[in-house]
Amino acid sequence: NPLKLTESSGILYPYYFGDDPRVKLKNIKNIQSKTGDIFLCSYPKSGTHWIMEMVNMLVAGSIEHPTKFNFLDPMIISDQVLDSIPCPRIFQSHLRFNQLPASFLKRKGKIIYILRNPKDVSVSLYHFVQKEGRTKYTGKWDEFFQLFLNANVGYSSWFDHVLSWEREKEKGRHPIHFVFYEALQKDAVTELDRMSKFLSLNHPHSFLQSVAECSKFTKMRNQQYLYHPFPADVMDDNYIDYLFRKGIVGDWRTLFSEEQSMQLDEVCKAEMSDSKLAFSYE
Ligand code: A3P
Repeated sequence: NPLKLTESSGILYPYYFGDDPRVKLKNIKNIQSKTGDIFLCSYPKSGTHWIMEMVNMLVAGSIEHPTKFNFLDPMIISDQVLDSIPCPRIFQSHLRFNQLPASFLKRKGKIIYILRNPKDVSVSLYHFVQKEGRTKYTGKWDEFFQLFLNANVGYSSWFDHVLSWEREKEKGRHPIHFVFYEALQKDAVTELDRMSKFLSLNHPHSFLQSVAECSKFTKMRNQQYLYHPFPADVMDDNYIDYLFRKGIVGDWRTLFSEEQSMQLDEVCKAEMSDSKLAFSYE
């Protein structure tokens, strides 16, 4: 696989899952949850860092709070590491619902799931895998587009990911809140208000406005503290440039041909026929 992925139960995983992803998946499954643990889940490149910054501020009740990016998937899972994270712990993961820690699911901990339209996700991911430390993908966009459509990328199919989370939300057995990247771009304060209420935090409008302001793309891009959770040998000096690349809706137009756009629309229609989700592309 040109993206150096490993496979387990039909799903492909990035290099940081190791040669046998089952080991890490089991370690994650067995994490002992604590009261107040929150999960931010998403398919890669859906705006996770943005939401993480916002939720950190909401939970801390302060815009001064430095972001702790507890990205579980590449983390070394040990009691020592997990216990060193101050409570309430905010974890981020690209896994599916039923892969989250069993004790967290049993406790019915809160989950925020971030969604972004698949055209912008695929373009963002294409730029990311070219620069990402150990992947350094060298293929052309046309080749990558086929990898994405055929679920030959990390965490496999975008369609399957989104659908599986939608089904879980619809069952109504677990507190799951959906946030669309495009909605955040349009009206961050309204979305922050929804997230704040979902987390049982009742922040005043003025505070939500400050959070929206302080988590703006340019602000986050210019911050000097460390966002990237990977070991130093994997981290490239330019990581800020690819984690905070453009931060807009509609950048897919720079790479998609008319035909590719139609092809993705067709696949979306076929794969998402049971879905009630509507994505905006502009
Ligand atoms: P682009 O590559 O399209 O610019 P993730 O955090 O899930 O890896 O998602 C990365 C995408 O979110 C990138 O998209 C990045 O630029 C965008 N992003 C990061 N911070 C943002 C912010 N504060 N506002 C808007 N977009 C942001």
